[in-house]
Amino acid sequence: MSTTTTRPGPAERLRGIVPDAEIAAIGPILEEIEELKERRNAVVLAHNYMTPDIFHGASDLRGDSLALAKMAVDTDADVIVMAGVHFMAETAKIVNQDKTVLIPDLEAGCSLADAITGADVRLLKERYPGVPVVTYVNTSADVKAESDICCTSSNAVQVVESLGTDRVIFLPDQYLGRWVATQTDVDIILWEGSCMVHERFTGEELRGYREMNPGIQILAHPECPPDVLAEADYVGSTSGMINWAKTERPRQLVMVTECSMSDNVAAEVPETEFIRPCNLCPHMKRITLHNIRDSLLEMKHEVHVPADIAERARIAVERMLAVQI
Ligand code: 13P
Ligand code: SF4
Repeated sequence: MSTTTTRPGPAERLRGIVPDAEIAAIGPILEEIEELKERRNAVVLAHNYMTPDIFHGASDLRGDSLALAKMAVDTDADVIVMAGVHFMAETAKIVNQDKTVLIPDLEAGCSLADAITGADVRLLKERYPGVPVVTYVNTSADVKAESDICCTSSNAVQVVESLGTDRVIFLPDQYLGRWVATQTDVDIILWEGSCMVHERFTGEELRGYREMNPGIQILAHPECPPDVLAEADYVGSTSGMINWAKTERPRQLVMVTECSMSDNVAAEVPETEFIRPCNLCPHMKRITLHNIRDSLLEMKHEVHVPADIAERARIAVERMLAVQI
């Protein structure tokens, strides 16, 4: 795992990824962030959807939701700044109740997390007694606390199969749930949640890309609707897509997901031309260099999870982390 001490400085990390003029402009704030991290013994964890200035310039560790949860468990920093959305910060707090977890903007939410409440899960459990509840990490701590086990898009199939039952309740992403159902014999009871970014892609749009660019490789996130996934050459989590691109290095590629991903990976795969449909996640885009700096300066916004909820949610998250993938 990389650390701030062994890596080149932030400006060096951005060289060749963003224009030199931009590096010069943001250099001072990046330096300020480095100094504050040192002073606070803080680490900045960044989701793959962060913009390159944050992803390559300000963060210490980067990854998909599963990797971020693991990093939060492993870090020996006193303070974790989550450059991502609220459920990611909450998950970091759940697995690390003695650490300070900060989210630079409290409004950085998620349409999936908004799609279900703990009370909804309690009603489902009454309706399907004895059927285990598998909950996507894109949910509130309250919902996780009502669940048997969490999953991410990296491990959803393995988590569902790890339970050894013939039926599970899968919450809250209907499209991820439907995709899991195509990969397993386990019967999946769905909830109607969806991601406001991924549900906008269409199969027709992707067929258009193929017609215009014969040979293009299509990578899609499993939060996309089934007609989109049917067109994909690879379906996987954000890090799954990045690894696929770095390994296969195709001539042309489209990543059917939030658009900052392509910006972050393009410099590492220079021989590949990225076609970039630009669907932005407005929640992820609330995180900026300025509010990361302010969060470290003023120690805001601290994420709190009531102890009884955190304790039950932790069991569901740790059960997920124990599943081998
Ligand atoms: P990953 O777990 O694949 O990083 O996905 C998180 C997310 O919010 C996708 O929209
Ligand atoms: Fe939530 Fe979708 Fe944004 Fe991911 S991209 S944080 S699932 S709204």
